[in-house]
Amino acid sequence: MQKTLISNDPRETTALATRLKESLQNGDVILLTGEIGAGKSHFARSLIQAAMDNIEEVPSPTFTLVQTYDTTIGSIWHADLYRLNDQSDIFELGLIDAFGNEIVLIEWPDRLGHLEPQDALTVEITILEKNKRKITFSTTSSEWRGRLEKTFKR
Ligand SMILES: Nc1ncnc2c1ncn2[C@@H]1O[C@H](COP(=O)(O)OP(=O)(O)OP(=O)(O)O)[C@@H](O)[C@H]1O
Ligand SMILES: [Mg+2]
Repeated sequence: MQKTLISNDPRETTALATRLKESLQNGDVILLTGEIGAGKSHFARSLIQAAMDNIEEVPSPTFTLVQTYDTTIGSIWHADLYRLNDQSDIFELGLIDAFGNEIVLIEWPDRLGHLEPQDALTVEITILEKNKRKITFSTTSSEWRGRLEKTFKR
């Protein structure tokens, strides 16, 4: 199942991320795909900020690979695997244990290879113009399907 929406500026993407946050629960994995500068971090940061009581700075996990946040909906893990050197680091980072237990947002999930969770929600962001993005939510999970429909029905 897939759902495609257009975002005309960063604030519209923030609104979509905020809406998705409403339907998240522990154990959810969100795979953020799209080229460099597409808006994966913007989406993740917006979602995390929407789940925080206080507006806090959400640092990018570019160098640490993983950042975790205590939020109103449980702990959220934000991973950016662009600089992942070794697949074994995925275990060391605690990501495998986090799958199915925590809420995990992952940029560059292709680095996971066969360790990529199968029941995840994929958010693919495509650059159309300077501020315009195509955002496609897709999943093979039947459980996600119902939630997605509820989240993005208009
Ligand atoms: N409609 C839009 N939605 C999201 N971001 C947008 C939009 N229009 C412009 N932008 C801008 O695009 C940039 C996206 O940067 P961001 O760091 O989120 O990309 P990224 O996909 O995480 O890249 P990287 O692969 O390097 O991690 C931001 O500067 C953001 O303001
Ligand atoms: Mg990023």
